[in-house]
Amino acid sequence: MGKLLTIQGGKPLEGIVRVRGAKNLVPKAMVASLLGSEVSELRNVPEIKDVEIVRNLLQIHGVKVDADPVTGDLSLDPRNTYSAEHSEIDAYAGDSRIPILLCGPLMHKIGEAFIPDLGGCRIGDRPINYHLEVLRNFGAVVDKQPHGIRISAPKGLSGAKLELPYPSVGATEQVLLTAVLAEGITELRNAAVEPEIHDLIAILQQMGAMITVYTDRTIRIEGVTRLGRFRHRAIPDRNESASWASAALVTRGDIYVKGAAQRDLTSFLNIYRKIGGEFEVDEEGIRFWHGGGQLQPLVLETDVHPGFMTDWQQPMVVALTQAHGVSIVHETVYENRFGFTDALKRMGASIQLHRECLGSSPCRFGQRNFLHSAVISGPSELKGVDINIPDLRGGFSHLIAALAATGTSTVTGIEIIARGYEHFIEKIEALGADIQIEQSGSVSARQPAVAAGG
Ligand code: EPU
Repeated sequence: MGKLLTIQGGKPLEGIVRVRGAKNLVPKAMVASLLGSEVSELRNVPEIKDVEIVRNLLQIHGVKVDADPVTGDLSLDPRNTYSAEHSEIDAYAGDSRIPILLCGPLMHKIGEAFIPDLGGCRIGDRPINYHLEVLRNFGAVVDKQPHGIRISAPKGLSGAKLELPYPSVGATEQVLLTAVLAEGITELRNAAVEPEIHDLIAILQQMGAMITVYTDRTIRIEGVTRLGRFRHRAIPDRNESASWASAALVTRGDIYVKGAAQRDLTSFLNIYRKIGGEFEVDEEGIRFWHGGGQLQPLVLETDVHPGFMTDWQQPMVVALTQAHGVSIVHETVYENRFGFTDALKRMGASIQLHRECLGSSPCRFGQRNFLHSAVISGPSELKGVDINIPDLRGGFSHLIAALAATGTSTVTGIEIIARGYEHFIEKIEALGADIQIEQSGSVSARQPAVAAGG
């Protein structure tokens, strides 16, 4: 049975939160360790469900994963890798999308991989066609089976000339994790260049890989025959940092995000300043607060890096419900990432969704049936309601809307948030939120059991 979070809104969030390694890097770094022939070490690892899922998946393939009891740092020993039972893989994969990235490493190590049907946030179709296409180009044979896909490389994997239809983060990682040990040279055009991709490249380079990134989204990988190990500190989670920044704005609060790094937040900080948020950077983090005046409406478009990230969109939309005037947000990365606005509307926000590409340049969703532009009129007074969390980022945005709202909100499905936000209940409590968690009749304020996702 799920947990029920009761939020008494209206209190500014004030204080310090600590952000650790990026959810969208750490699980991939763990997968990369599988390619090595020595023990790798990963630091700055958050306690989130995606990390737990990958840990389980690696362990059932024979990778010895040990966590330091104090720091949580991981040591990953891939020297005794073997095949796992399909049923075991199924059981451990949860709803995560990470298993697809095990394809290349497992094919290199044990000749084949079984990937269960994938889950992940309900924010669009989230197909894996780019992944399967690039794997076929490396020489992999893809066999669809009742509960997943079996992928094998009977003739080994060879470098290929590849071009992605869209700079997909996951498909770029797929290429990197496969090409590093493939025979010969791989050239990937239209690659994703997110900071998490650069961090993964740094890890692979430490292991012995030869990877060059060009300024035109081309990545060239010269296959090597053996990879060793990495010792790496994961980059901080820029999405969590941006989420707390928005929380400060929405609740008229003041939050110091320890561990946040300015460099990977440039486009977020520009928008934050435009809307009326203040920030101050120091060596250990960034302080974010509401500037005190009226928040300004704006026109915003999500994009691949170095654009405004799709994962920053949802908490920022909540802030825009408080801006004085009409804002437009055009989502160009996922076709269906405004579902979370239903709950905001029930709370009193004025948000209309449109199929057209509003505000700026046309995107690939424009001539299709996707409600991917939002018009937000503010300011609206938000009132507490009952909410069932739909997905990770949408869920966090509901949380901060409820924390800013007048009255009481009851929230179910909070386990989804624990997938990507480490100890978020403790964090909002420490920031002064008035909340209670109920579990099977008892009332507590602990971290909920985490749910799956990717
Ligand atoms: N796409 C395809 N076919 C594919 C792969 C992707 O059509 O085979 C499309 C997707 O449907 C989407 C677009 O390409 O419309 C971009 O998807 P991408 O592959 O870049 O996303 P991802 O790798 O599945 C990661 C993050 C997401 C983040 C995106 C974009 C992880 C585990 N997830 O997803 O994070 O939004 O990149 O930066 O790294 C989140 O953290 O809440 C989250 C959803």
